[in-house]
Amino acid sequence: MSRDKSSRRASAEQQTLDVSEAQIAVHWPEEDYFLPPASFIAQANLTDQDVFARFSLDKFPECFKEFADLLDWYKYWETTFDASDPPFWRWFVGGTINACYNCVDRHLTAYRNKAAIHFVPEPEDETVQHVTYQELYVRVNEFAAMLRDSCGLKAGDRVTLHMPMVAELPITMLACARLGVIHSQVFSGFSGAACADRILDSESRLLITMDAYWRGGKLIDHKEKADTAFAEAAEKGHQAEKVLIWQRYSGKYSSPTKLVEGRDVIVNEAVKAFRGKRVEPVQMPAEAPLFLMYSSGTTGRPKGCQHSIGGYLAYVAWTSKYIQDIHPEDVYWCMADIGWITGHSYIVYGPLALAASSVVYEGVPVYPDAGRPWRIAENLGVNIFHTSPTAIRALRRSGPDEPAKYNYHFKHMTTVGEPIEPEVWKWYHRSVGKGEAVIVDTWWQTETGGFLCSTVPALHKMKPGSAGPGIPGIHPVIYDDDGNELARGSGKAGNICILNPWPGAFQTIWKAPERYVKTYYGRYCRDPKSKDWRDWPYMAGDGAVDAADGYFRILGRIDDVINVAGHRLGTKEIESAALLVPDVVEAAVVPVADEIKGRVPELYVSLKPGVEASEDIAKRVADSVVERIGSIAKPHRVLIVPDMPKTRSGKIMRRVLASLSNHQDPGDVSTLANPEIVDSLRALVK
Ligand code: PRX
Repeated sequence: MSRDKSSRRASAEQQTLDVSEAQIAVHWPEEDYFLPPASFIAQANLTDQDVFARFSLDKFPECFKEFADLLDWYKYWETTFDASDPPFWRWFVGGTINACYNCVDRHLTAYRNKAAIHFVPEPEDETVQHVTYQELYVRVNEFAAMLRDSCGLKAGDRVTLHMPMVAELPITMLACARLGVIHSQVFSGFSGAACADRILDSESRLLITMDAYWRGGKLIDHKEKADTAFAEAAEKGHQAEKVLIWQRYSGKYSSPTKLVEGRDVIVNEAVKAFRGKRVEPVQMPAEAPLFLMYSSGTTGRPKGCQHSIGGYLAYVAWTSKYIQDIHPEDVYWCMADIGWITGHSYIVYGPLALAASSVVYEGVPVYPDAGRPWRIAENLGVNIFHTSPTAIRALRRSGPDEPAKYNYHFKHMTTVGEPIEPEVWKWYHRSVGKGEAVIVDTWWQTETGGFLCSTVPALHKMKPGSAGPGIPGIHPVIYDDDGNELARGSGKAGNICILNPWPGAFQTIWKAPERYVKTYYGRYCRDPKSKDWRDWPYMAGDGAVDAADGYFRILGRIDDVINVAGHRLGTKEIESAALLVPDVVEAAVVPVADEIKGRVPELYVSLKPGVEASEDIAKRVADSVVERIGSIAKPHRVLIVPDMPKTRSGKIMRRVLASLSNHQDPGDVSTLANPEIVDSLRALVK
């Protein structure tokens, strides 16, 4: 790269943080290859080797027309790619489209009576709901009519959803999409406080939630979170107009939390007034936002990643068809939660754009026992399965022999969200896939909309522990900290970046365009004035190794984001929650390797002078984290320490804490302001 070296160093220093997941990455040996089964290849959607030539860098950007051609457009676009305002790329400019139409209406002629969604309730004695495309069409239209005519929603308005895994969640998303309303779904496990921050940032007009849902044998009161969310957002400056509440059991309110007169609306009742109503899908510009998905970053404030309608939908449709190998007759089950990007792209928008049957299940993989996923697969005839290494590890530990007891057959399986250890991959292949399924290890992010690296299932060999090359159209590269490009196949670790823009990439961070430019393009941009996309590589924030075979192995985050069970948590968010406990003066969180979840947060806190350490304080700190963020962020341990290891300028050296927590050598600590603290911390950590 031709940038001035000193400025490169300065920006690299700003972004080089003192703890990273990549530093504690497990370095497993390179593994053998596995071949895709002939039975898979015989039926695969993509078997044409020419695909790589069709998507070579010199074919950019017109190659991506093929993605958008999978969709129905009201008006075909004029410009495939507009780079006039880098890095705010625009795709399929001039085109008009509706995402709901593409996921529902256009399938009615051929697939009216086919299941669009199979909703599997957690209680196994409850009936599975098979929502056909026709039924989906009716329910989405009626709810869209209610949102438009009773709530006055119009294109461009924002709505926060805080919904569990039920069929009503995709129905709500699609109803918003039909109207051009931007939805922002918050993971149901997040606290009311976390939801409040998102209502506030997006200035949502409504909060849509559900009264209760099942998880691990308990009917959880979810409505209480809506009250906190609504009140906190109002207190901080944005009052939503209403709270819409779906009932987990229609006709029955299943929450002990009272309804608020004039504010709370039971959807199941109110929607009855719209029975039989139809709403014309709003013809939206391709570049209008479809949704916001908040993700953790390096500051305490979550980032509202804004995804477009046309580019995003084209990207998830193409990758669902060719990387997930979805055919309309497939029964596809992605076990993620729709509250994360995986669920948006690969439970709702991608599979439904292809007229597949997509499974939405309530609960957790190992409750009531580790046979549940395989019973669901057998009962529904699932043939494509998609999950995370955390779920695979948990299922392997609690029921390694369970899959063999059930009569299901997967042709294709996905692993996503975190690095997978080769031995876990092999159990997945042998025991879950029964040796019959091809596996793709897909690396991507909330920001990227869809897959970046993966093998093309019928065309590449699989390598346990490695995601694979860039998918067709994606050209990854690895840079060192000084901005030098590492030779292809060097086997050295560095920062993985993508050379070219692509249609699925997020458009900006909601209300924070400068943060978007700085975080993703600031470090490796060659010339901030350049209008040439070649000068703007996208920095993913992950460490990776490019092996001699061109497969990328992802090592983990290089910034201060912790990936817990495949979910991103910002260290600043966790630390800020700890600091809300009055006796705490300093907090530092580090990732600790965990057998099941990959990583868990471990929290170090120091107290005000004179305050005695106690279990009660540790508990209050843990509770504060759960209350501010949700139980997913609950620290594995809270360690009360006399002092933090610090640099001479007073910065906490999280790298030293991370080494101690992971029982690794912290290296040279002589430059610390207080090197003597390390030994006492080591004793405490044990
Ligand atoms: O560190 C990478 C890890 O998950 C991060 C993205 O998290 P999120 O935005 O929540 O999206 C998760 C679902 C795509 C990445 O920066 N990650 C994702 N997929 C993989 C992975 N790490 C290793 N292997 C993967 N396949």
